[in-house]
Amino acid sequence: MDAAVRLLQFSDPHLFASPEGSLRGVPTLASMQRVLAHAGRRRLNIDALVCTGDIVNDEPEGYLHFARELAGFGKPVYCIAGNHDDPARLRSALSRPPFQVGGHADLGAWRIVLVDSCVLHQARGRVSAAELSALDAALRACERYAMVFVHHHPVSMGSRWLDAVGIENADEFFRVLDAHPQVRAVSWGHVHQCFDTRRRGVRLLATPSTCAQFLPQANEFAVDGRPPAYRRLTLQTDGTLETEVVWVDEAAAALDSASGASA
Ligand SMILES: [Fe+2]
Repeated sequence: MDAAVRLLQFSDPHLFASPEGSLRGVPTLASMQRVLAHAGRRRLNIDALVCTGDIVNDEPEGYLHFARELAGFGKPVYCIAGNHDDPARLRSALSRPPFQVGGHADLGAWRIVLVDSCVLHQARGRVSAAELSALDAALRACERYAMVFVHHHPVSMGSRWLDAVGIENADEFFRVLDAHPQVRAVSWGHVHQCFDTRRRGVRLLATPSTCAQFLPQANEFAVDGRPPAYRRLTLQTDGTLETEVVWVDEAAAALDSASGASA
């Protein structure tokens, strides 16, 4: 309980059955590999990875690529489903360590809680009554600080098309969180962009995709040209946290290679 917890959150890899599959011009497997290699070169000394959904892009065969790439990282990998995932196939493909789908995990002074916000065959999100009650139970039985991960966004992203596909019962979700003051942060994927705000002292974060990004503040769907990214999180023993989004652009990759670091 005396050391900070270091997490790497990555999101929305959108893998296909074919290793060459691409989303909006970005080959998704190669892009995820580049993100993981970049994090590896940084020697972040992480304790675990968290993937906040859309692991595949409607092709469950993609879970094989995910399992192969992440097993090699040598750390626990906590996962939740996104709207492009197949929940049953995801659970069976990632049923053994280092993978955990849903539930919660205790790491040092923190508990991380994985919340399923998916509605089958729908882009929008909803946290079911069962999932709300599991969240409440995970927080009620816990004296640790808590961080919650979920796929869909529980607040407005200031973007008309995205705001139609967030968590439709966000008020119920926040009612549970508000009852547990040890909750320090919520982080999600789905929106393929960076976001960082606070609500009642709780940090609210969105993490960009490991492939293509969406243009922030856009009222209609629009792709953003920003590069793949991941989020680094350091959860301190006093309940505070430090975080940054790392954009994996070509310049940064070249700089790392030149410094002699190896993946
Ligand atoms: Fe996505």
